[in-house]
Amino acid sequence: MSTASSKQRDILVTSALPYANGPIHLGHLLEYIQTDIWVRYQKMRGQNCYYVCADDAHGTAIMLRAEREGITSEQLIDRIRGEHQQDFAGFHIRFDNYYSTHSEENQYFAEYIYRQLQENGHIATRRITQFFDPEKEMFLADRFIKGTCPKCKAEDQYGDNCEACGATYTPAELINPRSAVSGATPVEKESEHYFFRLPEFHDFLSKWTRSGALQPQVANKLAEWLDAGLQEWDISRDAPYFGFEIPDAPGKYFYVWLDAPIGYLASFKNLCNRENIDFEHFWKADSDAEVYHFIGKDIINFHALFWPSMLHDAGFRTPTAVWAHGFVTVNGKKMSKSRGTFIMARTYLDHLNPEYLRYYFAAKLTGGVDDMDLNLEDFASRVNSDLVGKVVNIASRSAGFISKTFKGQLGAITEPDLIQRFVDAGDDISELYEKREFGRAMRRIMELADEANQYFDEKQPWTLPKKAALAGNEVEKAKDPALGDREEILNELQAICTNAINMFRLLMTYLAPVLPETAKASEAFLSAKLDWNGREAHLENHEINKFRPLMNRVDMEHIEKMLEASKEELPVATGKQAPSKDLEPIAEEIEFNDFAKVDLRVAKIIKAEHVEGADKLLRLTLDIGHGERNVFAGIKSAYKPEDLEGRMTVMVANLKARKMKFGMSEGMVLAAGPGGKDIFLLSPDSGAAPGMRVM
Ligand code: MSP
Ligand code: ZN
Repeated sequence: MSTASSKQRDILVTSALPYANGPIHLGHLLEYIQTDIWVRYQKMRGQNCYYVCADDAHGTAIMLRAEREGITSEQLIDRIRGEHQQDFAGFHIRFDNYYSTHSEENQYFAEYIYRQLQENGHIATRRITQFFDPEKEMFLADRFIKGTCPKCKAEDQYGDNCEACGATYTPAELINPRSAVSGATPVEKESEHYFFRLPEFHDFLSKWTRSGALQPQVANKLAEWLDAGLQEWDISRDAPYFGFEIPDAPGKYFYVWLDAPIGYLASFKNLCNRENIDFEHFWKADSDAEVYHFIGKDIINFHALFWPSMLHDAGFRTPTAVWAHGFVTVNGKKMSKSRGTFIMARTYLDHLNPEYLRYYFAAKLTGGVDDMDLNLEDFASRVNSDLVGKVVNIASRSAGFISKTFKGQLGAITEPDLIQRFVDAGDDISELYEKREFGRAMRRIMELADEANQYFDEKQPWTLPKKAALAGNEVEKAKDPALGDREEILNELQAICTNAINMFRLLMTYLAPVLPETAKASEAFLSAKLDWNGREAHLENHEINKFRPLMNRVDMEHIEKMLEASKEELPVATGKQAPSKDLEPIAEEIEFNDFAKVDLRVAKIIKAEHVEGADKLLRLTLDIGHGERNVFAGIKSAYKPEDLEGRMTVMVANLKARKMKFGMSEGMVLAAGPGGKDIFLLSPDSGAAPGMRVM
C-alpha cells in the first residue's frame, strides 16, 4: 500500500532563507518550487504539514547597500521582503508563514541558544587580527578587499581568490590591497572574537550524519570533512554590523549565519503564536514530529554541521532530514547577465506562466544533489507536449461531446479495470513524491496520460455523433439495418467520454501539487474536488461545467522577450544613484594612451523621444558631424524631450554599438550630477559645432 499511514503525521518544512539584499531569480526558485510541491503533496494527503520561511536580513552586505541607497537597513529589508513575497506568490509558493530574521522571536532564540552553548562550555573567545578600513572604521571580510593577484598580477581581484588565474590566497598576500568600501588602504587590527567550539561535536556529528538524515552523497562528503578535522567557528562580528548584539559583549554582533537557521525556529514560533500550534511538540528533544530543511548544495556545512550541533547542545531536537539540491544552469551555462539568462522571478512572470516552470523543474528533479539545466527549447517542447498535448488534451477532446450532446451530464464508467489501474498508480506516484523523485513521478503520470489518449483514439468517439444521426433517421435505417440503435450509440459516446474525463481527473489529482492553478481550474470544470485520498470515488451521472482552455502552449517568442528583458540595463554614465556619502573608490589608474582611445565629440541633439515601456530612458538622435547616432540615455528623470532638442552635449563616439532591450544604442552621452532631477547633460551653447573633438 501507499506510504501514507492512517496516523496523521506532524511535519515542519523549511526552505533556505533568501538574503534580503537582492531579488529572487530562477536559481532560487528551484528550491522554493521543489519544497512547495513536496508540501502541497503532504497537505493533499491529509498530513499536518507547515511550511515556513523568512528573509535572511542581517550582515554587512545589507548594511552597506542600505547606506548606498540612503535608507536604513530596516527600510531596505522591509522593502525587499515585500518584493520577495510577491515573487513567491507569483509562482504559487504557499508558505504558512514568511517572516524575517530581524525579529523579536529570532533575537530571543539566538540569545537563548547562545547562552546554552556558553553554559555548556562550547564558546571560546580569542583575539584575532583582521584587515580594517581606517576611513570607514570597520573590519573588512575578504570579499570587501580588492587588489592585485600575487600570482598572475591580475588587477582588481577579491581578497580570497583570483578570478583570472584561480589562485587562492589570504588578503594579506594581495599586492596593493584596498578596501572595496572606501578605497582606503586597509590596516591590520586586532579584536576579540567569539567562537563556537565545533570540534567538541565530532562524535555527535559522526553519528548524526550517518543517521539517515542526509542524502548518501552528502553524508559521504561530510565524512571527509569530519576526517579532515573540524575548525572552531567564528560567530562574532565587530560593530558596525546589522544584526543582534551578543549578550554581555558590547559592540560584538552575532555573525549572520548564526541567527539565520535560528530563523526557522523564529518563523515557526511566530506562526505557532498566531495559530495556536504547539511549538514544543515540534522542537522538544524527543519530538516525534518531523522536521525537514530543503537547501542548496552550497550551504550544506551550515545545515549539517553547525546547525544540528547547536540544536543538540541547546536541548532541541535535530532535523529529521536536510535535503540538498543542485544548482540551476540555463542553456548549459551558469546564469549570466550578458547572455540574458540571469532571469529574475519578476521578469519571468512578466512573460510566462509560472506553472510551466513548476512543471519543468518537477519533470527534471531527482532526490539527489545533481545540477539542473534549464534548456529553454526543451522547456517549451516538454510543457507543450506533456501538459498541453497530453493532459489537457484529454479533457478538451471529451468535454465538447459531453456539453453539446449530453448537456454536461456524465454517464456511467464502462472501463473499470482501466480506471482502476489509474487509481492504483497513485500508490507508486505517492512514493515518488515522498522521496522527492518528482521527475519519475511526472514520467509515470505522462505514461498514464498516453494510455488515456490511446484509449480515446482507439474508440474513435468523434465518429459516433454522425452514426447516431444516421441510426436515428428512418429512411437511412430502412436502407441499412446494421446502423444499429441510436440510443445505444449515444450511450457509448457518453461512456467513452465519461471514462476519459475520469482518467483526466486522476491525472490532475496527481499533478495538483505541481500545477495548483490548473488543478483549481480543473475542479471548477469537473465541478468536483481533486481528492487524492478519495480518488476511488468516480464521477458518474454527474454534471460538469463547460470546458475552458486550461493552459496555453508556450510561445518561443515570449521566451525570447524574457531573455531580451533580462539583458543588462543600459549603462549610462548617470544610471547609478549617487551614494549618499561613501563615494565609490576611484578605479585603477590608466595611461594617457588608454584615455586617448576614448573619442569624445560634441553632439547636437536633433531629436529626443520617450521610449515606450522604459522608466528611465530617452531615445536621442544625435548629430556628430559624421552622421546621425541613435543613443539611449537614462536621463528621463531630469529632462523633458522638448527641452533637449536643438541643444549640444558630449558623447563617446567610438563606443561599440550595443543591442539593448529597446533597440541599438550607438554610443553614450556624458553627464554629471547626483541623479534624479539633477543630471547635467548640456554643454553651454558657446559655438561648439557637432563633431568637434573634446579634450
Ligand atoms: N541566506 C542564505 C541561507 C540561509 S538559510 C538559514 C542563502 N541565501 S541565498 O539567497 O543565497 O540562497 C537561498 C537558497 O537558494 C539557497 O539554498 C541556495 O542554495 C539557493 N540558490 C541560490 N542560487 C541558486 C541556483 N542558481 N540554483 C539553485 N539554487 C540556488 O544562502
Ligand atoms: Zn591571479
